[in-house]
Amino acid sequence: MSAVKKTIQIGYDLRVFFTERVFDGANLVLKQAMAGDNPGHIKKVLLVLDESLAQAQPALTQQIENYFAAHADGLKLVCPPLVVEGGERTKNSDFHVSEIHSQIDRYHIDRHSYVVAIGGGALLDMAGFAAATAHRGIRHVRIPSTTLSQADSGVGVKNGINAFGKKNFIGAFAPPHAVINDFQLLASLSPRDKRAGYVEAVKVALIRDRRFFEALERDAAALRDFEPEAMRQLIRRCAELHLEHIATSGDPFEFGAARPLDFGHWSAHKLEQLSEYQVRHGEAVAIGIALDVIYSRMMNFLDAASAERVLRLLEGLGFELFASELLHVNSQNSLLVLDGLEEFREHLGGELTITLLQQIGKGFEIHEMNLPKIVEALYELKRRHEQKGQKIIRATAS
Ligand SMILES: NC(=O)c1ccc[n+]([C@@H]2O[C@H](COP(=O)([O-])OP(=O)(O)OC[C@H]3O[C@@H](n4cnc5c(N)ncnc54)[C@H](O)[C@@H]3O)[C@@H](O)[C@H]2O)c1
Ligand SMILES: [Zn+2]
Repeated sequence: MSAVKKTIQIGYDLRVFFTERVFDGANLVLKQAMAGDNPGHIKKVLLVLDESLAQAQPALTQQIENYFAAHADGLKLVCPPLVVEGGERTKNSDFHVSEIHSQIDRYHIDRHSYVVAIGGGALLDMAGFAAATAHRGIRHVRIPSTTLSQADSGVGVKNGINAFGKKNFIGAFAPPHAVINDFQLLASLSPRDKRAGYVEAVKVALIRDRRFFEALERDAAALRDFEPEAMRQLIRRCAELHLEHIATSGDPFEFGAARPLDFGHWSAHKLEQLSEYQVRHGEAVAIGIALDVIYSRMMNFLDAASAERVLRLLEGLGFELFASELLHVNSQNSLLVLDGLEEFREHLGGELTITLLQQIGKGFEIHEMNLPKIVEALYELKRRHEQKGQKIIRATAS
């Protein structure tokens, strides 16, 4: 036997810029983010825009075109912004990926050009995947336009779409060239989508940063009222913690079986799918965290007072901690949400690895879960929800 072995090391700079009014002509963040190593060269840009954002901020499309016209010395928008439906539907087929591929082909977008995507986490996941797979990887810039994507998904390295009824089944790890967080873009979000992103902050605080959790408790009322300063701080710290994890965990592309940032997500991904995506990602994660916190308490990993604090914070931020789909069963009468455990394991490969809580600010990993206890925890959530006098049926608007 003979072998040749070389280690290939690739470094990435992950850059997240915080700015306001990114398409104001005087704002140079986007232009400079693309200036790169070849500043004299005019950068070709294909821009993909979330349809709901374009409708909610009707002046935006024109502002974008004006921006590129004003910076024609460095940037070239190859065609008017490609307006694509956002939300989970954009990820539920490969239709929009093909649409972007065909525009990349048509306008000769090469590896020194850029795909700039502006939208919610779903659109960014989809467009990032299209960019990652054309010519084996075109540079992409993300401009997230929801709380969740500014705080969490937009600043990460994962891209993908859903297939075979499973979240993110088809996808690629591809760090964005840059991420630009513009707080003004959030102004047109529904209260429901403004809130949904808070939960990723609660999540990362719970597993990593007790002081951040305490700050969220202090700011809960302001966050519930969507006060800008409290929201800005939440987004900033949450994005920072995510970036820190990706840069320092030693496993940015998740070769191992552990995925600490997916605390509360095993049941959440399944719940999103069971509700046919009526429950938003953030809303499902709030329930998933509540479930795993109660489970952690039942298994004596976490003390009761801490568990109650977490549930109170989530409720205080305005989240409902139960959804009727959690009790959907298959023909053998077993709860479908429990399939989420195996699907979660399979997505990562290897041994089942679930993050639970030891204390506020400190997660730890386990490799098996007690199914009857999970069911018990689900029923506790249901009782708690009923006692609060809330309807089991989710409010559909706002
Ligand atoms: N890649 C990752 O690491 C990662 C991590 C977490 C979540 N995600 C994914 O992110 C997705 C959820 O993202 P999300 O919570 O941002 O929701 P979303 O992308 O589904 O957006 C919610 C809704 O808001 C609309 N919208 C977006 N910005 C708007 C604005 N500024 N004004 C008005 N409407 C606007 C969208 O069109 C959509 O209808 C899920 O698919 C989830 O799986 C990915
Ligand atoms: Zn998430």
